[in-house]
Amino acid sequence: MTRSVRSVHLRFLSFVCAMATTSGSPFAYHVFLSFRGEDTRKTFTDHLYTALVQAGFQTFRDDDSIERGKYLNLELPKAIEQSRISIVVLSENYASSTWCLDELVTILECNRTHGNDVLPVFHDVEPSEVRKREGSFEKAFERYENEVEEEDDHERRMELAKRVVGWKAALRQVAALTGMVLKNQADGHESKFIKKIVNVVGDKVKRTELSVAPHLIGIDLRAGNINSWLRDESNDVGIVAICGIGGIGKTTIAKYLYNLNFERFEGSSFLASVREVSEQPDGLVRLQRQLLSDILKGKKEKIYNADQGIVRIKEALRCRKVLVVLDDVDQVDQLDAVLGMPDWLYSGSKIIITTRRKQLLKASEVDTVHEVARMHRTESLELFSWYAFGQDHPIEGYMDYSKRVVHYCDGLPLALQVLGSSLSGKSIDVWESALEKLEAIPEGEILKKLKISYDSLQDDHDKNLYLDIACFFVGKDKDWTITILDGCGFFTKIGIHNLIDRCLLRVGQRDNKLWMPHLIQDMGREIVRLESTKEPGKRSRLWQKEAFNVLREKTVRIIYLMSTSMVLVGICLN
Ligand SMILES: *[C@@H]1O[C@H](CO)[C@@H](O)[C@H](O)[C@H]1NC(C)=O
Repeated sequence: MTRSVRSVHLRFLSFVCAMATTSGSPFAYHVFLSFRGEDTRKTFTDHLYTALVQAGFQTFRDDDSIERGKYLNLELPKAIEQSRISIVVLSENYASSTWCLDELVTILECNRTHGNDVLPVFHDVEPSEVRKREGSFEKAFERYENEVEEEDDHERRMELAKRVVGWKAALRQVAALTGMVLKNQADGHESKFIKKIVNVVGDKVKRTELSVAPHLIGIDLRAGNINSWLRDESNDVGIVAICGIGGIGKTTIAKYLYNLNFERFEGSSFLASVREVSEQPDGLVRLQRQLLSDILKGKKEKIYNADQGIVRIKEALRCRKVLVVLDDVDQVDQLDAVLGMPDWLYSGSKIIITTRRKQLLKASEVDTVHEVARMHRTESLELFSWYAFGQDHPIEGYMDYSKRVVHYCDGLPLALQVLGSSLSGKSIDVWESALEKLEAIPEGEILKKLKISYDSLQDDHDKNLYLDIACFFVGKDKDWTITILDGCGFFTKIGIHNLIDRCLLRVGQRDNKLWMPHLIQDMGREIVRLESTKEPGKRSRLWQKEAFNVLREKTVRIIYLMSTSMVLVGICLN
C-alpha cells in the first residue's frame, strides 16, 4: 500500500509468553501471627508457627516484646494487609500489651476494608472473657482507664481515651468471630489443636474469593432477594439475570453474591467480561476452559474447540451442584456455548447472568430478571462522599456542590465513585468548572459525564496509560503489564496508582489482575475510536479484529509470538 510511505513504528506491547512467569497471588504471606510474646512466644505460638511453616504456609510472626524501629512500624500494617489470614492468639495477658491491642485494631480494619480473614485462637481464655473483658482483661482496662484519668494534657487524654474505646470494640469484634478455643477442641491437647488450626488455614487459603470495591452501600437491598434464592436449600435449578444499564453496579452485586455463597456449592465459577472475552480469537473456548478448571478445582482439561468443550462441560455439570456467574453477557450464543442446555444442570445448581440487554433474556430460559435500581439520593451522597472526602458526608463548605454533582450522577454508583475520586482534594474552582461541564451534558449520556474524569487526569502520560490499559491490558497481571509498559518508556507504577486513585482502574486483590468497570473500559475504547471514526489505521491504538485488518493492508514486517490464549494484543501506530 502507498500509505506505508508514512513512517510506521510498530510497538508490540505485549506477548503472552511472559505470562507463565507471573505470580498468581498478590499476598506476600499466607498467615500473620499476632500474639502476646510474654505468654506464648516460647510455647504455643512457637509450635503453631513451626507447624504452619512445615505445612508450607508463608507465615509472618509478630512479637510484641521485640523492640522496633519506626521502619517496622510502617511495615507491619502492610504485612497484615498482605496476609491472607491473620491468626490472633488471645491469651491471658494479651490485653496488657497496647502493642497487641493496636495491632488487633489494624487487623480488624484490614478485615473490614480488604476482607482479609481473621481467625481468633483462644489460648486458655474463654471467648466470653475477651468479649466482656473479664479477669486479666478487666484488670488491663482498669489500668488504661486510670491512665486516661490521670493524664493532665487534654489532647493526649482525648487521644488515649479514643484508643481505649477502639480497643474495647476490637476485643468485642474479635470474640464474636468464629474462632478456635483450646479447651473445647481436641480436649485441650495442644498438638492436636495446632493440627486443627493448620487445617482451617488450609481451607481458607484455598478458597478463591473475588475482590470487590469498598463501601458497598445498600448492596443488600440492591441485590434484592437473589441472596435468599441462592441460600434456599431447594433442589430447583435456576437462572437469574441481573439487568441494568452500564455503571449501575451489576458486576459488583454479582461478585458480592458470589463471595457470600460460593462455599455452599460443590463447584463454582465466576466468568468475568464474557462479552469482551468471547470477541477474542478462541474466546469461547477460553471461557469454557476457565469454567471447567474452576469447577474441577484446577484440574486442566484439554479442549481444542467449542463443541468439544460443551461435551466436557455437560459431563462436569451433570453431577455437581454448582454456582456459575456469567458476567456481562450480550448474546444468547455466549450463554449456549458456555453453559449449554439448562437441563444439564444438577439439582440445586444456580446460574447468575449480568447483562445490559434485557431483551436478550426473553430468548433464553431465564427464570427471573432482577433489575438493579439506581441508588437513592441519601445513599448516593454517602457513596460520593466516601470517594470525594474519605468519610460518609461532605466536608464543610462542600455540601451544596456535592449535592449538585450527585444529582447529575443519576444514582449510578460508578459515576459517583469516578466523579467523587476525580474531585477529591480539588479547590472550589475545579468543582465549579466540573459542574458547568456536567450541566451541559444531556441527561442519560453517562459516558460523557464519566469522561470528565478522564479529562481531569493530570498529564498526558496518565491519559495514555489509561487508554493503553483499556485497549490491551484489562484482565492482565499488574506486574507483567508494568514490565511491558515500562519497557515502552512509561512510568507505569505511578500511573497505575493514579488511575486506581481515580477509580478508573482496580487491581484484583487475590489475583493481581488489572480490572476496569466495563463502562470505563468502553469509554477508553470510544475515545480511541473517535480519533478517526472512518479510518482505523489513523487511530492511536488498535485491538482485536481491526488490528489484524489494518496490518493486512500494510506492508510491514511483523514479528509476533503466539500462544494459546492470546496472539497479539497491541500496536501503537505513530
Ligand atoms: C472478616 O473475617 C471473617 C473471619 O475470617 C470473615 O468471615 C469475614 O468475611 C471477614 N470480613 C470481610 C468483610 O471480608
